[in-house]
Amino acid sequence: MKTTDNQKKRIDKGLFIVFEGIDGSGKSTQAARLFHDLEARGWDAVLTREPTDGPWGRKIRDIAAKGRSGTSLDQEIGIFVQDRREHVRQVIRPALRRGAIVICDRYYFSTIAYQGALGADPAALRRLNEKTHRFPRPDAVFYIRITPRAGIARINKKRGGANAGYEKLEFLERVAAIFDAMDDPFFVRIKGAQRPAAVAREVSRRVSALISERTCD
Ligand code: TYD
Repeated sequence: MKTTDNQKKRIDKGLFIVFEGIDGSGKSTQAARLFHDLEARGWDAVLTREPTDGPWGRKIRDIAAKGRSGTSLDQEIGIFVQDRREHVRQVIRPALRRGAIVICDRYYFSTIAYQGALGADPAALRRLNEKTHRFPRPDAVFYIRITPRAGIARINKKRGGANAGYEKLEFLERVAAIFDAMDDPFFVRIKGAQRPAAVAREVSRRVSALISERTCD
C-alpha cells in the first residue's frame, strides 16, 4: 500500500539538514540518497537546493553562464540572499512547520565560503545571514570534505575532459579554507574521499541519532 500524505512520519518542529562542500565533493548525490532513504522509511522528507529554481536562482545561473562582469560582489551577495529569503519563506519554513525533514543542498555556509573567497568578509557574511535575515539554523550541516584537486578531477571527469584550470584550483582552495574554519556545533565533517556508500552510511547513522534524540524527550 502506498503511504498517503497524512500517514507519513513527522517530527515536532521538523528537522533541518544541510549538505555543504566544494564543487565535485559529491554532496548532491549524498543529499538525494538521504532523501530517498528517508522517504522509503516513511518520513515526510523534502529535498531542495540553493541556488533555487525560482526567479532569483535562475538569475544566479544566468550570471554564472555569462560571466560575472557587470555584476559587483555586493550585487551578487544580494541576489543569493534574495533567493534564500524566498526559499526560506516558501519552502523551508512551511515544511519544518508541518514536521518534515528538510534536506537542503547548499545553504548560507556556501555564501560565507564562496563570496568570502571572492573577497567579502566571512564574518560579515555570517552576520548578514544569521543576524540581519535570521535565516533558520540547521540541526546538522554535513560538510563533505575533499581536496580541491580531487574536486576538480571529479568535475573534469564528469564533463568528459574539459579542463578547469589553475585559477579554479586556487579559488576552491580559498573556499575550502573558509569551510574548514567553520566550527559551529552542528557542523559534521565527513571524509568525501571514501566510497559513496560509506559516506551515506555515516550520514544515515548521524541522522538516525538526531531523530532519536528529538523523539525521545
Ligand atoms: P551547485 O548547485 O552546487 O552547483 P552545480 O551546478 O554543480 O549543481 O552550486 C552552484 C554554484 O553556486 C557553486 O559553484 C557554488 C555557488 N554558490 C555561491 O557562490 N554562493 C551561494 O550562496 C550558493 C548557495 C552557491
